[in-house]
Amino acid sequence: MQSLQLYSGTLREYLQNAINQKEPSHLYQPIDYILSLGGKRIRPTLTLLVCDIFGEDHKKAINAALAVELFHNFSLIHDDIMDNAPLRRGKETVHEKWDVNTAILSGDAMLILAYQFFENYEPKMFQKLAMLFSKTALEVCEGQQWDMDFETRDDVTLEEYLKMIDYKTAVLIGAAMKMGAIVAKTSEADAEKIYQFGRNLGIAFQLQDDYLDVFGNPENFGKQVGGDIISNKKTFLYLNSLENGSMKEKEDLQNLFSINPKDPADKIETVKQIYESSGASEATKKAIELYTLKAFENLESLNISNEKRQQLQTFGNELMRRNI
Ligand code: IPE
Ligand code: IPE
Ligand code: MG
Ligand code: MG
Ligand code: MG
Repeated sequence: MQSLQLYSGTLREYLQNAINQKEPSHLYQPIDYILSLGGKRIRPTLTLLVCDIFGEDHKKAINAALAVELFHNFSLIHDDIMDNAPLRRGKETVHEKWDVNTAILSGDAMLILAYQFFENYEPKMFQKLAMLFSKTALEVCEGQQWDMDFETRDDVTLEEYLKMIDYKTAVLIGAAMKMGAIVAKTSEADAEKIYQFGRNLGIAFQLQDDYLDVFGNPENFGKQVGGDIISNKKTFLYLNSLENGSMKEKEDLQNLFSINPKDPADKIETVKQIYESSGASEATKKAIELYTLKAFENLESLNISNEKRQQLQTFGNELMRRNI
């Protein structure tokens, strides 16, 4: 993705130096480890990009960008415990490489380190950023709890699913962008529009994540393909198959999502086939496009040049076509 290269050097440098502490090593090594694995760094890139787009030097937003990326990485360490995931960014997850207790505490420390980055802003700016951050972080927890609750429910609605992904994923992408706007001191109206742009893009982003969890290429996806099927995650793919599949497809799917076989290979393969034959796979791609276009609507009345609007759209289009 071309857009992600914009600040990659800056971000790499700052993230490398983000943590000074070394002892106790079992607290800080996992933090270094997860940060060094990189990832796409979409959220901090968006914070910097939005700050630039609203006419302020992106360097002023670096602390907010680091806060967002540290929070994101904290959420991944804990999410991987919750999802029982073996792989992250092509390498062992923190709780597999060390153990669950280490992953819990290193994650906690990262959450605190994230907040500390806001201390570099003057009090008024600090308050604005910290308030948005706290609200967002709590919503992420709520989304994560729904995500887990849904694993054992068989009556999840599409509306509930959309709220769940809005909270666990989209609000952080929205907040990452709004923070860039706050640092650039834009109008409230523009900050709110860019936030809504981020949220709609975030929903498209999580739909795509769910899609790739099933149809991604294990060679480059960096996570365990089929993980959501193993965990009985109620994704758009699942809900759409139940809505539009044949009687047999529905019955098979519901049966498969009520069992947890030791060897999940057959379950994954059959579910994958149902997601394709029921049309859910195509419907998911359409939904991703729909939410990306919905995001673009939020840009229409934004007080920026057409060239900058175009830059945000390019970012959205590239996200929609990603395969990792
Ligand atoms: C993964 O986020 C978690 C989700 C919200 C889907 P990313 O896909 O941004 O993960 P990295 O940071 O690039 O590894
Ligand atoms: C993760 O959703 C959202 C958060 C980490 C808050 P997923 O569980 O789908 O993310 P991946 O697929 O493990 O990256
Ligand atoms: Mg999860
Ligand atoms: Mg997960
Ligand atoms: Mg996922």
